Amino acid sequence: MKIIWLDTIDSTNSEALRTLSSLEGGTVLAAFEQTAGRGQRGNRWFVQPGKNLTFSVVLKFEEGQFPAAWSFRLNMLCPLVIARFLRSAGVSAKVKWPNDVYVGRRKICGILVENVLGSDGVSAAVLGIGLNVNQTDFPEVSGATSVRLLTGRDLDLNESLEDISGLFDELLPAVFDDDRWASLFAEYESGLFALGIQAQYVDVASGDEFTGVIRGVTEEGRLRMAVGDEIRLYAFKEVSFIL
Ligand code: BTN
Repeated sequence: MKIIWLDTIDSTNSEALRTLSSLEGGTVLAAFEQTAGRGQRGNRWFVQPGKNLTFSVVLKFEEGQFPAAWSFRLNMLCPLVIARFLRSAGVSAKVKWPNDVYVGRRKICGILVENVLGSDGVSAAVLGIGLNVNQTDFPEVSGATSVRLLTGRDLDLNESLEDISGLFDELLPAVFDDDRWASLFAEYESGLFALGIQAQYVDVASGDEFTGVIRGVTEEGRLRMAVGDEIRLYAFKEVSFIL
């Protein structure tokens, strides 16, 4: 992957989407500072300049190479890469479905995958990743943590991004290979936050709170949740965790 560092930009995802036609697949756009970082559900992503990693991995696909039905694979790949990187930094993280990375009950990394659809499947994807590295106070958000807070050590942002890019290079081919994908899928499922334990959730459509047990995910990325004797399948944004 080729890493390009930008000084200040509104959002690396927005910049990647704006300049997509001039970017090669495999480019990583990273910013020292984002002035309008974007999060899930239209939220903002607030972090202090120069302390964390905020970057977007740009992928491009040939016609028909990446069926839209596989798009959840990219949402699984990103937190797996980050969890592996964090493990090498001495931090044991879990994936909170679908793609947040948590340590205990605190969020260390948020991910915003944006796909561009072509005439035959996904033609490009922008994998936006915000990883809290050296920041120690989070006045704008509650429940956040960072590598520094967890280990007491600062990490070099350049080197960390090189390592993360290397992990993308290593794991990305598995997305196109069902056998290799099976083992990453298993790694994703077995590392899920709250897997196999009773916890409280809200069914977004009805507003009902319920006790459920996460059992895993389907191939398309729906959450498999046991509620009493029933197994419910939830799509993204249809259920929320009560932390
Ligand atoms: C979330 O809400 O958890 C997703 C946060 C994603 C933030 C990253 S930072 C780099 C990239 N550029 C953005 O504007 N957002 C993503």
